[in-house]
Amino acid sequence: MPEVDITSILKESRVFNPPKKFSESSHIKSFDEYEQIYKEAEIDPEAFWAKIAGELHWFKKWDKVLEWNPPFAKWFVGGELNISYNCIDRHLTTWRKNKAAIIWEGEPGDSRTLTYQDLHREVSKFANVLKSIGVNKGDRVAIYMPMIPELPIAMLGCARIGAIHSVVFGGFSAEALKDRVYDAQAKVIITADGGFRKGEVVPLKEKVDEAADKSPSVEKVIAVKRTGNQVQMKDGRDYWWHDLMKDASDKCEAIPLDSEHPLFILYTSGTTGKPKGVVHTTGGYLTGVYITTKWVFDLKDEDTYWCTADIGWVTGHSYILYGPLANGATSLMYEGGPMYPQPDRFWEIVDRYKVNIFYTAPTAIRALTKHGEQWPLKHDLSSLRLLGTVGEPINPEAWIWYHKLIGKERCPIVDTWWQTETGMILITPLPGAIPTKPGSATRPFPGIIADVVSREGKSEAPNKGGYLVIKKPWPAMLRTIYGDDERYKKQYWEEIKGVYFTGDGARRDEDGYFWIMGRVDDVMNVAGHRLSTMEIESALVSHFTVAEAAVVGRPDEIKGQAVVAFVTLELGNNPTDELKKELKEHVSKEIGPIAKPDDIRFTEALPKTRSGKIMRRLLRDIAYGREKMGDTTTLEDYSVLAKLMEDKE
Ligand code: WT7
Repeated sequence: MPEVDITSILKESRVFNPPKKFSESSHIKSFDEYEQIYKEAEIDPEAFWAKIAGELHWFKKWDKVLEWNPPFAKWFVGGELNISYNCIDRHLTTWRKNKAAIIWEGEPGDSRTLTYQDLHREVSKFANVLKSIGVNKGDRVAIYMPMIPELPIAMLGCARIGAIHSVVFGGFSAEALKDRVYDAQAKVIITADGGFRKGEVVPLKEKVDEAADKSPSVEKVIAVKRTGNQVQMKDGRDYWWHDLMKDASDKCEAIPLDSEHPLFILYTSGTTGKPKGVVHTTGGYLTGVYITTKWVFDLKDEDTYWCTADIGWVTGHSYILYGPLANGATSLMYEGGPMYPQPDRFWEIVDRYKVNIFYTAPTAIRALTKHGEQWPLKHDLSSLRLLGTVGEPINPEAWIWYHKLIGKERCPIVDTWWQTETGMILITPLPGAIPTKPGSATRPFPGIIADVVSREGKSEAPNKGGYLVIKKPWPAMLRTIYGDDERYKKQYWEEIKGVYFTGDGARRDEDGYFWIMGRVDDVMNVAGHRLSTMEIESALVSHFTVAEAAVVGRPDEIKGQAVVAFVTLELGNNPTDELKKELKEHVSKEIGPIAKPDDIRFTEALPKTRSGKIMRRLLRDIAYGREKMGDTTTLEDYSVLAKLMEDKE
């Protein structure tokens, strides 16, 4: 971890108050109400979380709210519950029985709606299928599927019988899948023949074959027929989903599970190459995602809620599936890409299903802004009442575009900060209560004690950058790294003594608002100043010609690090030397001469992971002039990188 302090230089002074009408009907109605709840939760966090957990269904109530043997937490000790029961069964005795739980749209335009009753039948049948092929409580099941309804059915089926699911994003390679299957020692892989993405078939089963052949732990493979492409079925190992489901009984009770029974493992990348299996358990996780979904998205029974993430990421786990269904909500799920067949697919879906709450990533917003205003303007977006973002800091320019073109200056925007490890949203506006500032995730959720500290763990003064930490355990926190308690301890609890280290840099302003500056390893040291790459990027993107920018550091004899900016232009702009000069001056003007890029490289696209994160590591390799690239297995499109290497100066 870097030793120097972090200089925060982002200037943003606009404040947007929650619209009065919105506040009046929201769950948390005013800033005062938020502060009061926050204070009460701060004084007695256990009472706060216990009250929320009490809104869920428990087969057996807990004896103790929290057992904290730092850094190992147990929540709702002695309690027994089942997440599948909480997300489905408990709604069946209410009017929600025939309410749409999942509205699904496939990329080709096919669609399906599953009511809570439908979901109960499918999940029960699938849970019986799992049992029939020998899956027991505690066994690990890998899921490698497209965004089709069978994916949440498979997850809830596992949860129903206490099997631990590990969803591997369908965009990962066979090699990446194999590593994850190996680490979790998964007994079964659930997949599909293929999935649709950008008009093409992604051959999932083929990759599963490659991975399964090299994975001794895998006994069975179940495949959904989705695309109809030719696949190999290995005798005695591979089964079609529809064959197994045909005769399965639809009676399968959800079994009571210990509150600390693992619900899932989800792999995320760390500072080393080896993926980390983040472990989440049952009672605390459900409590956290249940209440954040309700308050952050101000979720009401009438809402059609859409989170555009892939379920292969934690966002999909917590805020497409478990959080919304625990609230008895209607969750929309879309299989394909935002630009297919045209850059208005999102807005077309919002219009057709009259979506009320829309949650997406800044990278998607920036990509969409690049295509121009005509696409959102083609559709009626008046059903929207709340917008959200997650995954990275949103640059104020994109925020304003989102606010004006999508929210029509009517919808609050919740910029939600959290991580795979945190399980639930931790820093976020509550939309009816907390005024927003573009680019800030605002305040911690009640029950969350967040701080910005120095390397020694001392709180920093307002507006001084430092390390973002969480000072008290929270119910949806990760419990460990699968099979590696030591790594868990070291990585999260020993970097800064006694607190959870997020790996992010941040500052807190005079109003107590958090401004996240990105991962500390994406922070540069330029002439003694630590600069967040994101802040320079934000300045670049605020120039009218720039669509997207990524900034990395290159070693520099005089300044320590030089700023190298990779820039993609809005359509219709020419990558000239004059423009380079102009952009450098623009950054200098926006932030100050210290942040002025030393080098600007125009590129048609930036290398990204399949989840849309810019791979700065690879850009750094290019900026350093290295011939050999680091690990490129998580890269979405290799040709982008190849082109950048060709163009190198
Ligand atoms: C990292 C976690 C949480 C689901 C998706 C990403 C960055 C996330 C924000 C935000 C600024 C954000 C942080 C964090 N991040 N949300 N609203 N503002 N940064 O999960 O892959 O575990 O990544 O994403 O750097 O540490 P993840």
